[in-house]
Amino acid sequence: METIVRDLMTSPPVTCASSDSLAVAARAMAAAEIGSVVVTDRGKVAGILTERDLLRAAAAAADPDHEQVGLWMTAHPDVLSPDEEVDAAWASLTAHHYRHLPVVEDGHLIGVVSLRDLMGLARIRPAAESRTDVPAGLEGVVVAETTVGDVRGQEGFFHYRQYAAVDLAQQRSLEDVWHLLFKGELPDAAASASFASEVRARRHLPPGLAALLPALAAQGAPLDVLRSAVSVLGAELGWRPTHDVSPAELYDQALALCAVVPTILASAYRLREGLEVVAPRVDLDFAANYLHMLTGELPSAEHARAIEQYMILTIDHGFNASTFTARVITSTGADLAAAIVGAIGALSGPLHGGAPSRALDMLDAIGTADRAEAFIRRAVEDGERIMGFGHRVYKTDDPRSLLLRQVIERLGGPLVAFSQEVERTTVDVLAELKPGRQLYTNVEFYAGVVMHTCGIPRHMFTPTFAAGRTIGWSTHVMEQASHNRLIRPAARYVGPPPPQPVPAAP
Ligand SMILES: CC(C)(COP(=O)(O)OP(=O)(O)OC[C@H]1O[C@@H](n2cnc3c(N)ncnc32)[C@H](O)[C@@H]1OP(=O)(O)O)[C@@H](O)C(=O)NCCC(=O)NCCS
Repeated sequence: METIVRDLMTSPPVTCASSDSLAVAARAMAAAEIGSVVVTDRGKVAGILTERDLLRAAAAAADPDHEQVGLWMTAHPDVLSPDEEVDAAWASLTAHHYRHLPVVEDGHLIGVVSLRDLMGLARIRPAAESRTDVPAGLEGVVVAETTVGDVRGQEGFFHYRQYAAVDLAQQRSLEDVWHLLFKGELPDAAASASFASEVRARRHLPPGLAALLPALAAQGAPLDVLRSAVSVLGAELGWRPTHDVSPAELYDQALALCAVVPTILASAYRLREGLEVVAPRVDLDFAANYLHMLTGELPSAEHARAIEQYMILTIDHGFNASTFTARVITSTGADLAAAIVGAIGALSGPLHGGAPSRALDMLDAIGTADRAEAFIRRAVEDGERIMGFGHRVYKTDDPRSLLLRQVIERLGGPLVAFSQEVERTTVDVLAELKPGRQLYTNVEFYAGVVMHTCGIPRHMFTPTFAAGRTIGWSTHVMEQASHNRLIRPAARYVGPPPPQPVPAAP
């Protein structure tokens, strides 16, 4: 028999009033060793306050003794009935990223179900069930072990190896971070210089690809050209299946790939625009050389550093869709080019890397700060997604957007105040119209503003993302290849019951 919510809820629930202070609520949570309190008003559920809300309040320097629960809780949360099956509770919790749901009977609060309760149940399910249902979109499902890095969405924190990515972006060069990913450690001064000169020397296109590129560039946008060009590169350089190559050989291929991708992208852009291709320069670092090849001009140190910081911040980011794609392809033993081509395809979608130009298009459409609220409100009410907001993993500020906001403040320009105003308005409108979804700016919002300010054309935003991210993808390909197991999940068939008689051929 299916377990129902009544069987596993925590009852009686711990409650408080919306006029209580955060300190009172926090003490109640600590005393009961639980992660939430239900906020009640005359026995009825008025809201829910979770540890996450306390963290948000702490981050905003709110005074816990004076700040009222009502200001920080999620008002009118979804509730469960005690007779509902646990699968419904699970679906509700995971679909909305909730960790706790109040249980209500005849309008009165009688308990709370937490993700922890459900996890406990999951552990006692019979081992004979050979298939495990996971949330749609694989949200929160661990599919591998990695030493490359991780994203802690609730904390708004991500890291490469053992270092905070934001610290690396503030303190080191892109080549140093590349060294960290490829070799597992940050270089000292001598290693830094020798790695930088090694990769700078590999920026030129091999002759076969150089000859083909004008024809490829005439056919499509630079990111599409990159897909084809990486295939050609792998073929020209004779890359064999990862299954058959040594780690040293794969490392060498990855180095060649990452060094040459910016050259492919900048050349494809210039060819398509009818401009002369600008050869790579060995005396410039990664980002400065990229900007130089793209614009034909030597970038200012400020612009080069801003793009370098953007590229460091986006070099890797956990098991996002494109990285996962690269690892799935590698898990079949296919070659490096195949894995990267797949990753580029995944990145091109607007729900992943294809958003920054759309965020900037939205700023254009809004025009002036006073029109922001009406614009955003109408878009959300029409069921549209506001580009540059929301994230699968971050349910708080995206740390990348925080640093990029600082970068744009440093750079200055006409979009600084306007974009910040639109951010504030959008966050407020989304909090009102999509309560409890925790939607904040993601990396793409300010990325577009930074790239635009540094002179990168809009249709080169996603390609610029790819120029740096190729380093992260390649790191994952090497890791997957070194501990490989074929990634092969299952799907639940929900079509008409088989086998049906096959109709005779017409
Ligand atoms: C990034 C993104 C795909 C993550 O989505 P997700 O984890 O699958 O989140 P969901 O689709 O489950 O959305 C949860 C709820 O928030 C809403 N939501 C999420 N992002 C939103 C946005 N940008 N604008 C308006 N509503 C949004 C959804 O409509 C949904 O509401 P519902 O519960 O009423 O159905 C999503 O936030 C999005 O589409 N953002 C805009 C595109 C973007 O900026 N992409 C760049 C990503 S780095």
